[in-house]
Amino acid sequence: MSEKKFYITTPIYYPNSRPHIGSLYTTVACDMIARFKRLDGYAVKFLTGTDEHGQKIEKAAVAAQKTPLEFVDALCESFKELLRIYGLSNDDFIRTTETRHKKGVEVLWKTLEEKGHIYLGSYAGWYAVADEAFYLESDLVEGKAPTGAQVEWVEEPSYFFNLSAWQEPLLRFYEENPDFIQPTSRRNEVLSFVKSGLKDLSVSRTSFSWGIPVPSNPQHVIYVWLDALTNYITALGYPDTGSPDYQKYWPADVHMIGKDIVKFHAVYWPAFLMAAGLPTPKRVFAHGWWTNRGDKISKSLGNVVDPFDLAQRFGTDQVRYFLLREVPFGGDGEFSEEALSLRINSQLSNELGNLAQRVLSMIAKNLPNGFSAQAEGMGSMEEELLKEAYALPDELRLHIDQQALHKYGDAVWKVVASGNKYIDHSKPWALAKERSPDLEKVLYATTELLRCLGIVLQPVVPVGAEKLLDQLGVPQSKRGLAQLVWSERRPFDQLHIKSPTPIFPRV
Ligand code: MSP
Repeated sequence: MSEKKFYITTPIYYPNSRPHIGSLYTTVACDMIARFKRLDGYAVKFLTGTDEHGQKIEKAAVAAQKTPLEFVDALCESFKELLRIYGLSNDDFIRTTETRHKKGVEVLWKTLEEKGHIYLGSYAGWYAVADEAFYLESDLVEGKAPTGAQVEWVEEPSYFFNLSAWQEPLLRFYEENPDFIQPTSRRNEVLSFVKSGLKDLSVSRTSFSWGIPVPSNPQHVIYVWLDALTNYITALGYPDTGSPDYQKYWPADVHMIGKDIVKFHAVYWPAFLMAAGLPTPKRVFAHGWWTNRGDKISKSLGNVVDPFDLAQRFGTDQVRYFLLREVPFGGDGEFSEEALSLRINSQLSNELGNLAQRVLSMIAKNLPNGFSAQAEGMGSMEEELLKEAYALPDELRLHIDQQALHKYGDAVWKVVASGNKYIDHSKPWALAKERSPDLEKVLYATTELLRCLGIVLQPVVPVGAEKLLDQLGVPQSKRGLAQLVWSERRPFDQLHIKSPTPIFPRV
């Protein structure tokens, strides 16, 4: 059987200021998927990084009175710090100022040029530095880009990529790969954009110098989006298409992005790849925006929410959980600390935390010498309960493969609710008082339920899940999805629970 492998990427972030909650979001979503795939036995490559060239960065560096490289070096660290604090599980971090990347971009450029897809001309039109994007006069809304960004008039010699020639091949590609762009609303936008006619794309700039020079004409720097998109393959070793990582992981399974950068990923990127004769990625999934009182949270609007501060005050699992559960993945969501606290207290503390705490502290108190063999004798209620837990992997796989991340939490919490209902119904506290022989059975069944929950919770709340699995004494090597079966239960004579500490205290 061939090895199961999975490649997922975040966009590479502009290090023009410190990361905010929006930049954390895409990475957390990828982290959840990457962790799930690892649990499911896949070899996973999860890539993130920083997009360090272009006019936007150059401008910010000038304002900070630093050279662009000094400027991005410092900010890049804050992106890495965010990954560290939140325990994100990326396998690589690529910076577009690295040699391995620049080399790959140069080769891609030369390939496009040799194949006749790039020609020299001149550009006269609008450019928005904040978006690093060209706009037509007809795109503008009250003198601004449709994104609200300021535009400036640019006239300069420029190389063009023959994007117009790729209109038909792209449409055919979307038709043959109906799931390439998700969700469907984004796919429809792209289809109508491409059908309305593609113009050749300016792919070099001459009015500033912070970028990768065009190999044959260093007066020009390569357009930052052509440079940036290429990170997805340079991180795998491109231009060496024979490199083990490239061979194993390209084409990518999922490029996760925000809805503001769909055109670049779903139109330009596959066109560049097709033109270069390289395979196209399997899916681009665009999630929505976090808003603050209705406005998109962004550096330029100055309404950012600081993920470092949130981590300190609420905890990283708690912030992750909120981001992954609050909105149907793909839609927009309003961020507020009230909504965050509410979710933590109601679902993490009251529902999940209490279930674990009730069961584990009753075991610590009532079974100081551990369980006996009769604990494993299940009744029909216990069997029903555990059947629900053992059915989770199949359902969760489906949600992950459709990037329906919110449904994952829904499915797991349904089982949490069943666990709480079972406890309320079987009243172990009363059984303890009566010294009933059923006590062991009830506590053992719920412990088994907690083991299953601990395993499937790892992609969502990794810190809390680890704590839970540690308290249950589940060995590291037994924390995969394949272990969600009765035969992998903790043997009754190995289950020793010490006084537990709550996994998710209230805030
Ligand atoms: N550098 C480009 C991407 C190049 S990829 C080859 C870029 N960088 S960015 O830093 O501006 O944005 C990176 C990601 O953060 C995007 O997916 C964007 O949608 C996401 N977010 C930025 N603000 C956001 C919110 N307020 N809410 C959710 N995500 C948002 O674009």
